[in-house]
Amino acid sequence: MAQLWKGRFKKELAKETNDFNSSISFDSRMFEEDIKGSIAHATMLGAAGIIDKSESDKIVDELDKILNDIKSGALQIDMEAEDIHTFIEGELTARLGQTGKRLHTARSRNDQVALDIRLTLRKEITEIEEKVKELIAVICDKAEENKTAIMPGYTHLQRAQPITFAHHIMAYAAMLCRDLSRLADAKKRMNICPLGSGALAGTTYPLNREMVAELLDFDGVTLNSLDGVSDRDFCIELAAALSLIMVHLSRFSEEIIMWCSWEFKFVELDDAFSTGSSIMPQKKNPDIAELVRGKSGRVFGDLTTLLTVMKGIALAYNKDMQEDKEAIFDAVDTVKMCLTAFTPMIETMTVLKDNMRNAAAKGFINATDCADYLVGKGLPFRDAYKATGELVALCIDKNLTLETLPLAEYKNICDLFDEEVYTAINLEKCVADRLVVGGPSEQSVDNQIKAARNILSVN
Ligand code: ARG
Repeated sequence: MAQLWKGRFKKELAKETNDFNSSISFDSRMFEEDIKGSIAHATMLGAAGIIDKSESDKIVDELDKILNDIKSGALQIDMEAEDIHTFIEGELTARLGQTGKRLHTARSRNDQVALDIRLTLRKEITEIEEKVKELIAVICDKAEENKTAIMPGYTHLQRAQPITFAHHIMAYAAMLCRDLSRLADAKKRMNICPLGSGALAGTTYPLNREMVAELLDFDGVTLNSLDGVSDRDFCIELAAALSLIMVHLSRFSEEIIMWCSWEFKFVELDDAFSTGSSIMPQKKNPDIAELVRGKSGRVFGDLTTLLTVMKGIALAYNKDMQEDKEAIFDAVDTVKMCLTAFTPMIETMTVLKDNMRNAAAKGFINATDCADYLVGKGLPFRDAYKATGELVALCIDKNLTLETLPLAEYKNICDLFDEEVYTAINLEKCVADRLVVGGPSEQSVDNQIKAARNILSVN
């Protein structure tokens, strides 16, 4: 396919150079955004009298037809074209002759591509937001079902204090709610129209940039033409927000992987979301969770790519920036794929409450509550802490738990203990008493679920 920039050149581009230079293999996915951007531009050119209204109408009509033809499959995108912008303009000109050649008046591919990426990513963000919301909703439902399922909470992967499964997974809902607000924030800053920046220096034509912005549902127009064409902050911001989503999915995955092991057995994944081994007949592997954890690396890589591409290029547009699309599209596609696989895996997993409760019974996770009991009796916390530490050492020695240690042994270490200590260290009570905002008590988790669902309903 012929290049757009012929006049100055005596030769066609070498085949290898064309392959290297071309971006159509990855920017063709923006065909709809490219066409819609062109429709808005042509409409404005007509309205502003920069081209004849009749010609602008023809261009708009034909662009619409091209869009439909691509969608229906009647028109194939030519993979030999330099990029999607070249292809669409070439097709328009092939269909309309001279009139088609007027479309690119007062426009450069530099502002055109900056526009197309914004339109494309804006749409992708909305899709990702929906998927994040679905996952939050599933987590809330799972939490609702498991508000009284006691499990050990961990620090250093050592059993620490009693919580519930609901409380634990609502931590992920909290992270994902922040992800939603980061996505919304990225979308807000992205939603500014760069068209009219031209190649870098704007244009002498009396453009109505605001009209184009309005037609395309932007919140405003970029205010510096050099920045308009050379800004890819919005790609980087989105990649950063997507990276954090992957951090969260990856941590969640890691826990699912641990919980599926015989060492934990806190959850069982549905067969539809597990895989077997080709040699070991007993195996049921959490491949989906492992893949999500692994794919986080790709998204972090995409973020690094974008930062590195952008950091050293002089203003304004440089071809380096063509590298933005593969990176950000890969990040977008990876996150979408991961969420699509991850959410139903969580939805269908079985929570093995008894195993969690049994694990919670071991590991002295009520030791803090035992110390707090002594504090209630008037002992300073440091002394209570020490006395409880001695009790734990004694239990380990005698292979007992704090629940099964006889009262006499308690009294030997501190005479403030009485029969009530057994109530104080009861795990259900330890959880129920943690009424503090953000805590694991049923009431507190209820509030967390409510808050998360509230975010889903207002967003
Ligand atoms: N394919 C190019 C890109 O993605 C479009 C802009 C090309 N502009 C140019 N002056 N070569 O960045």
